[in-house]
Amino acid sequence: MALFSMGLDSLRDLFIDELRDLYDAESQITEALPKLIERSHYPQLKSALQEHFEVTRGQIRRLDGIFEGLGEKPTGETCKGMKGLIKEGDDMASRNGEPSVIDAAIISAAQRVEHYEMAGYGTVRTYADLLGETEYSNLLQQTLDEEKEADKTLTEIAKTINVQARAA
Ligand SMILES: [Fe+2]
Repeated sequence: MALFSMGLDSLRDLFIDELRDLYDAESQITEALPKLIERSHYPQLKSALQEHFEVTRGQIRRLDGIFEGLGEKPTGETCKGMKGLIKEGDDMASRNGEPSVIDAAIISAAQRVEHYEMAGYGTVRTYADLLGETEYSNLLQQTLDEEKEADKTLTEIAKTINVQARAA
Protein backbone atom coordinates (compact mmCIF):
# COMPACT_ATOMS: atom_id res chain seq x y z
CA MET A 1 0.00 0.00 0.00
CA ALA A 2 1.11 3.59 0.52
CA LEU A 3 4.79 4.41 0.62
CA PHE A 4 4.08 7.82 2.07
CA SER A 5 1.14 8.36 4.35
CA MET A 6 -1.81 10.46 3.43
CA GLY A 7 -4.68 10.95 5.83
CA LEU A 8 -7.42 8.36 5.67
CA ASP A 9 -10.26 10.41 7.01
CA SER A 10 -13.15 9.09 4.98
CA LEU A 11 -14.27 6.08 2.97
CA ARG A 12 -13.73 8.24 -0.12
CA ASP A 13 -10.06 8.71 0.87
CA LEU A 14 -9.71 4.97 1.28
CA PHE A 15 -11.52 4.37 -2.02
CA ILE A 16 -9.09 6.62 -3.91
CA ASP A 17 -6.09 5.18 -2.09
CA GLU A 18 -7.05 1.63 -3.01
CA LEU A 19 -7.82 2.62 -6.61
CA ARG A 20 -4.29 4.04 -6.85
CA ASP A 21 -2.93 0.80 -5.45
CA LEU A 22 -4.82 -1.16 -8.12
CA TYR A 23 -3.64 1.25 -10.81
CA ASP A 24 -0.03 0.56 -9.87
CA ALA A 25 -0.73 -3.18 -9.64
CA GLU A 26 -2.14 -3.22 -13.18
CA SER A 27 0.84 -1.25 -14.49
CA GLN A 28 3.20 -3.77 -12.91
CA ILE A 29 1.24 -6.61 -14.54
CA THR A 30 1.56 -5.11 -18.03
CA GLU A 31 5.32 -4.87 -17.48
CA ALA A 32 5.61 -8.44 -16.19
CA LEU A 33 3.34 -10.31 -18.59
CA PRO A 34 5.51 -10.20 -21.77
CA LYS A 35 8.24 -12.24 -20.07
CA LEU A 36 5.74 -14.78 -18.72
CA ILE A 37 4.22 -15.09 -22.21
CA GLU A 38 7.66 -15.65 -23.68
CA ARG A 39 8.60 -18.22 -21.04
CA SER A 40 5.40 -20.27 -21.30
CA HIS A 41 5.25 -23.24 -23.66
CA TYR A 42 1.69 -24.52 -24.00
CA PRO A 43 0.01 -22.52 -26.83
CA GLN A 44 -3.28 -22.13 -24.94
CA LEU A 45 -1.41 -20.72 -21.93
CA LYS A 46 0.51 -18.30 -24.14
CA SER A 47 -2.68 -17.07 -25.79
CA ALA A 48 -4.58 -16.80 -22.49
CA LEU A 49 -1.79 -14.64 -21.05
CA GLN A 50 -1.62 -12.61 -24.26
CA GLU A 51 -5.35 -12.03 -24.09
CA HIS A 52 -5.10 -10.99 -20.44
CA PHE A 53 -2.37 -8.54 -21.39
CA GLU A 54 -4.84 -6.80 -23.74
CA VAL A 55 -7.62 -6.99 -21.12
CA THR A 56 -5.28 -5.44 -18.53
CA ARG A 57 -4.61 -2.46 -20.80
CA GLY A 58 -8.37 -1.96 -21.00
CA GLN A 59 -8.60 -2.15 -17.21
CA ILE A 60 -5.99 0.61 -16.90
CA ARG A 61 -8.01 2.77 -19.30
CA ARG A 62 -11.12 2.06 -17.20
CA LEU A 63 -9.28 3.21 -14.07
CA ASP A 64 -8.04 6.31 -15.94
CA GLY A 65 -11.67 7.16 -16.65
CA ILE A 66 -12.63 6.77 -13.00
CA PHE A 67 -9.75 8.99 -11.84
CA GLU A 68 -10.73 11.59 -14.41
CA GLY A 69 -14.31 11.52 -13.10
CA LEU A 70 -13.09 11.83 -9.52
CA GLY A 71 -10.75 14.70 -10.43
CA GLU A 72 -7.84 12.81 -8.87
CA LYS A 73 -4.53 11.61 -10.24
CA PRO A 74 -3.97 7.85 -10.55
CA THR A 75 -0.33 7.82 -9.46
CA GLY A 76 1.37 7.99 -6.07
CA GLU A 77 0.95 4.46 -4.77
CA THR A 78 3.19 1.43 -5.04
CA CYS A 79 1.44 -1.90 -4.71
CA LYS A 80 3.98 -3.84 -2.66
CA GLY A 81 1.81 -6.92 -2.62
CA MET A 82 1.85 -7.11 -6.40
CA LYS A 83 5.60 -6.47 -6.42
CA GLY A 84 6.08 -9.57 -4.29
CA LEU A 85 3.70 -11.71 -6.33
CA ILE A 86 5.35 -10.70 -9.57
CA LYS A 87 8.84 -11.27 -8.16
CA GLU A 88 7.84 -14.81 -7.16
CA GLY A 89 6.35 -15.51 -10.59
CA ASP A 90 9.34 -14.05 -12.36
CA ASP A 91 11.77 -16.14 -10.29
CA MET A 92 9.80 -19.32 -11.08
CA ALA A 93 9.53 -18.56 -14.79
CA SER A 94 13.28 -17.87 -14.99
CA ARG A 95 14.23 -21.35 -13.82
CA ASN A 96 15.20 -24.20 -16.14
CA GLY A 97 13.18 -27.38 -16.18
CA GLU A 98 10.51 -29.45 -17.81
CA PRO A 99 8.27 -27.27 -19.99
CA SER A 100 5.04 -28.57 -18.46
CA VAL A 101 6.35 -27.98 -14.92
CA ILE A 102 7.46 -24.44 -15.82
CA ASP A 103 4.00 -23.85 -17.30
CA ALA A 104 2.34 -25.19 -14.14
CA ALA A 105 4.50 -22.77 -12.11
CA ILE A 106 3.50 -19.84 -14.35
CA ILE A 107 -0.19 -20.72 -13.93
CA SER A 108 0.27 -20.94 -10.18
CA ALA A 109 1.86 -17.49 -10.08
CA ALA A 110 -0.72 -15.97 -12.45
CA GLN A 111 -3.62 -17.29 -10.37
CA ARG A 112 -2.15 -15.74 -7.23
CA VAL A 113 -2.09 -12.42 -9.09
CA GLU A 114 -5.71 -12.87 -10.21
CA HIS A 115 -6.94 -13.66 -6.70
CA TYR A 116 -5.11 -10.66 -5.27
CA GLU A 117 -6.75 -8.45 -7.88
CA MET A 118 -10.17 -9.99 -7.30
CA ALA A 119 -9.89 -9.12 -3.59
CA GLY A 120 -8.90 -5.55 -4.44
CA TYR A 121 -11.61 -4.96 -7.04
CA GLY A 122 -14.32 -6.57 -4.90
CA THR A 123 -13.41 -4.14 -2.13
CA VAL A 124 -13.39 -0.96 -4.23
CA ARG A 125 -16.59 -2.04 -6.00
CA THR A 126 -18.25 -2.32 -2.58
CA TYR A 127 -16.89 1.08 -1.49
CA ALA A 128 -18.27 2.61 -4.70
CA ASP A 129 -21.69 1.14 -3.88
CA LEU A 130 -21.56 2.54 -0.35
CA LEU A 131 -20.54 5.96 -1.67
CA GLY A 132 -23.47 5.98 -4.09
CA GLU A 133 -21.09 5.88 -7.07
CA THR A 134 -23.14 3.51 -9.23
CA GLU A 135 -21.26 4.22 -12.45
CA TYR A 136 -17.86 3.49 -10.86
CA SER A 137 -19.32 0.43 -9.18
CA ASN A 138 -20.43 -0.92 -12.56
CA LEU A 139 -17.03 -0.23 -14.12
CA LEU A 140 -15.19 -1.92 -11.26
CA GLN A 141 -17.58 -4.88 -11.42
CA GLN A 142 -16.68 -5.26 -15.12
CA THR A 143 -13.00 -5.52 -14.20
CA LEU A 144 -13.80 -7.91 -11.36
CA ASP A 145 -15.70 -10.13 -13.82
CA GLU A 146 -12.74 -10.06 -16.23
CA GLU A 147 -10.33 -11.13 -13.47
CA LYS A 148 -12.67 -13.96 -12.48
CA GLU A 149 -12.88 -15.03 -16.11
CA ALA A 150 -9.08 -15.03 -16.44
CA ASP A 151 -8.82 -17.11 -13.27
CA LYS A 152 -11.35 -19.63 -14.61
CA THR A 153 -9.48 -19.91 -17.92
CA LEU A 154 -6.23 -20.59 -16.04
CA THR A 155 -7.96 -23.28 -13.96
CA GLU A 156 -9.13 -24.95 -17.17
CA ILE A 157 -5.63 -24.85 -18.71
CA ALA A 158 -4.13 -26.14 -15.45
CA LYS A 159 -6.28 -29.27 -15.72
CA THR A 160 -4.20 -30.28 -18.76
CA ILE A 161 -0.85 -28.80 -17.73
CA ASN A 162 -0.78 -30.20 -14.20
CA VAL A 163 -1.40 -33.71 -15.52
CA GLN A 164 1.40 -33.26 -18.06
CA ALA A 165 3.64 -31.97 -15.26
CA ARG A 166 2.85 -35.05 -13.17
CA ALA A 167 3.94 -37.25 -16.09
CA ALA A 168 7.17 -35.29 -16.68
FE1 LIG B 1 -6.20 -6.74 -13.88
